[in-house]
Amino acid sequence: MSNPKKVKIGLFGFGVVGQGVWKNIAQNRNALEARLGAELAITKIVVRDSARERTVQVPNEIISTDPATILEDPSIDIVCELIGGTSQALEWTKQALKQGKIVISANKALICEHGEELFKLAQENGGHYFYEASVAGGIPIIKTLREALVANRFSLIYGILNGTSNYILTRMEREGISFEATLGDARSLGYVEADEALDLDGIDAAHKVVILAYLAHGKWVALKDILCEGIRSISSDDIKIANELGYKIKLLGIIARDFEQNSLTVRLHPAFISKRETLANVDEVYNGVSVTGDVVGTTVLIGRGAGQDATSSSVISDIADAVSILQGRTSEARFAQDNPLEDSETLELSKPEALESRYYFRFKVKDEEGVLAQISHIMAGHHISFATVKQKELPDGSALIMATTHLTKEALVYSACEAIKNEATVIEAPVYLRIFDSEAYLT
Ligand code: NDP
Ligand code: HSE
Repeated sequence: MSNPKKVKIGLFGFGVVGQGVWKNIAQNRNALEARLGAELAITKIVVRDSARERTVQVPNEIISTDPATILEDPSIDIVCELIGGTSQALEWTKQALKQGKIVISANKALICEHGEELFKLAQENGGHYFYEASVAGGIPIIKTLREALVANRFSLIYGILNGTSNYILTRMEREGISFEATLGDARSLGYVEADEALDLDGIDAAHKVVILAYLAHGKWVALKDILCEGIRSISSDDIKIANELGYKIKLLGIIARDFEQNSLTVRLHPAFISKRETLANVDEVYNGVSVTGDVVGTTVLIGRGAGQDATSSSVISDIADAVSILQGRTSEARFAQDNPLEDSETLELSKPEALESRYYFRFKVKDEEGVLAQISHIMAGHHISFATVKQKELPDGSALIMATTHLTKEALVYSACEAIKNEATVIEAPVYLRIFDSEAYLT
């Protein structure tokens, strides 16, 4: 293998992350190049609008709107795809991988939807596809699973993987304000994606969960086959009750493997989580991931899940690995992992309705005699037993009944809710949240 002194890099995209990569390579150039033993040169940048004013200034001649300036330049060793989306990004990633280039991406949507094809293309053409920044921004979760924890099989990985949702839940909890009020602030701080559904309906975090599930268990799970719920239905009453009962509400991605049954659970939803858990105390825009391996035990990583600097830190770490490969310095064992850690041929994905959990319910009802008894009767008819119940009178003559349950099955919860929402005394469809208990997966 050649031993390049100067490594040439092409950037697709010069927005938040792209400019961060340029800025932070420039800022730490001496230290970085000394560590890598190579000069890092971003020689081409492709954007949508080359006339756009940027915060980070680069020579005019390297920026263009023509993808061929990167894709048809044989001197470029590393291609970074930092445009996002799944159309143009897919096309250019495929073209670069077909040429055997090393491609680096922060694009969780693309990897979730097309990762299987892209990893295969990389392998077939002798290239590599790196994606540290795609999950949890600056937290090195991909390398941690692939490299540092390679000795392990993973019974449970769960985490907070969407900074925007975590920011909204944190503000609601601290200030007792509504989802809508907090969302306004999150928008004005620039936290919310242009397509808000990605953050608010859990899709962005689900993309990341799918990537981690593949990495840890070798199975590409389709988004449509997993439970994916965002935070829109959470009210400040839910957060208050959770607090009184010793919980916080967090948007959790959960990947649980039952090795005896050879089954895999992958889901993303808001959940009650005990305040004693480390991740319950990961607040604001921070992300956190808890990984339980059979050899290492439980390891928790916490850090910035988004933003220019944190995300570009991860992209640059992939660039560093790419440089090592180009210099022939890295052992094959470390990088032969465009294959996942696990063989997944017979691994079965659990159906969402098969979940067993404790639940929290909120019912908005007419404040009339016998309503609580009526709801209890329907729940009992579905073998769901209440653990705690609290009622709150509302000024409009209605009431909120907020209850937690003992262990029950998700399928029973679905049918109980269907029955309850059709009662004349019930004003809104019941809201329910799962109560997450990491111990349930680890015994
Ligand atoms: P931005 O919207 O800030 O930047 C996107 C860049 O890509 C812009 O420079 C834009 O050009 C360029 N671009 C977009 N579409 C095209 C196209 N069709 N042809 C040419 N250039 C195009 O996005 P981010 O930097 O925030 O995100 C980049 C990637 O990183 C995404 O996949 C995102 O999900 C991921 N990511 C982002 C994080 C963050 O905190 N921002 C965190 C983790 C991952 P122009 O400037 O001319 O419009
Ligand atoms: N919208 C994402 C978040 C950006 O809020 O976490 C980082 O992937």
